[in-house]
Amino acid sequence: MEVHTTTGKQRLNRLRPLSVGFVIILVCCLSAIVFAGTVGSGDRANSMLQDYPEGELGEIVKLGEAIVMNTAEHPLSKQYVGNKLNCTSCHLDGGRHETAASFLGTATAYPAWSPREQTVITLEDRALNCFMRSQNGTRPPNGSRVSVAVTTYITWLSQGSELKMNGEKPLGPNHTPALDLEGIQPDVARGEELYTDRCADCHGDNGDEEPPIWGADSYNDGAGLSRNAKLASWLKVAMPLDDATLTVQEAYDLAAFVNSHKRPHFVLSEHLPDDAKLGEYNGTVK
Ligand code: HEC
Ligand code: HEC
Repeated sequence: MEVHTTTGKQRLNRLRPLSVGFVIILVCCLSAIVFAGTVGSGDRANSMLQDYPEGELGEIVKLGEAIVMNTAEHPLSKQYVGNKLNCTSCHLDGGRHETAASFLGTATAYPAWSPREQTVITLEDRALNCFMRSQNGTRPPNGSRVSVAVTTYITWLSQGSELKMNGEKPLGPNHTPALDLEGIQPDVARGEELYTDRCADCHGDNGDEEPPIWGADSYNDGAGLSRNAKLASWLKVAMPLDDATLTVQEAYDLAAFVNSHKRPHFVLSEHLPDDAKLGEYNGTVK
């Protein structure tokens, strides 16, 4: 009778594929742990966003995202837009960008005190105000489908962040960081040179291309970006697109140059709908 014995070598051969598999699994686990440890809280918030909510709620999140990405053309929002911009023109990547007017975590700051309206406003109010100023359009009615969709999308981008209402200004935890401009003077002529070098390829010599940054089809002079300090801080983290490498001085010079051009003049009453459609505008109507 033949006795089957397993030699040491045979055992080793049988074990080898097993141990190779084990090592691969081990390496994967370790790198996952290391990766989880190195990503910032913003990345973590982002990675939680991969799934849309179930059912109708998810559909409204997607609708809100579509409006944010294509505000000037979307059938639900275009009637409220008075220029060629979309929310994503400034809230880069539909608000998923971590610093350029980010929507990540934004909903957690609301209701918030607003110095401009001199009252406490909701996230919905805040989004609708961008329609009047940055989009140079008309304020959609509170509770309208466009308003609910956009607000739902922004709230979804805030999941997992801690609620912390802002008692000083209507800005979320990841808003564009302000620059320290003390002692720095902006120079329009220098801004013009920089513009030709670093911006005109995309925005055109007349600032009216893809998307327009001055003139009739851009934001009006009531918008946040019409203030040089605000525009400089946004340019610093956002432009040139995918290569935001301006120095503070350059960003300020460019802001002064861009905002030295004509743009629509903001008069609040011209951007409010008639009473029946207003719901309740809770700022002071001048
Ligand atoms: C011309 C540029 C521009 C456009 C277009 C624009 N916004 Fe804004 N918006 C801003 C800036 C600048 C701020 C200030 C936030 C910051 O500095 O991070 C802001 C703030 C906001 C905030 C508050 C953010 C916070 O941190 O609390 C919301 C909400 C918002 N916008 C919604 C919208 C929506 C919705 C649209 C499209 C209908 C839109 N915005 C279009 C420039 C713009
Ligand atoms: C590679 C092309 C490109 C370059 C270069 C570039 N931009 Fe932009 N810029 C864009 C695009 C595209 C957007 C809108 C973002 C989007 O839709 O994703 C934008 C948005 C803007 C906006 C806000 C929206 C608006 O139309 O008002 C301003 C202001 C702006 N750019 C200024 C500048 C300045 C100043 C420079 C030079 C430092 C510059 N950009 C360089 C492509 C560019």
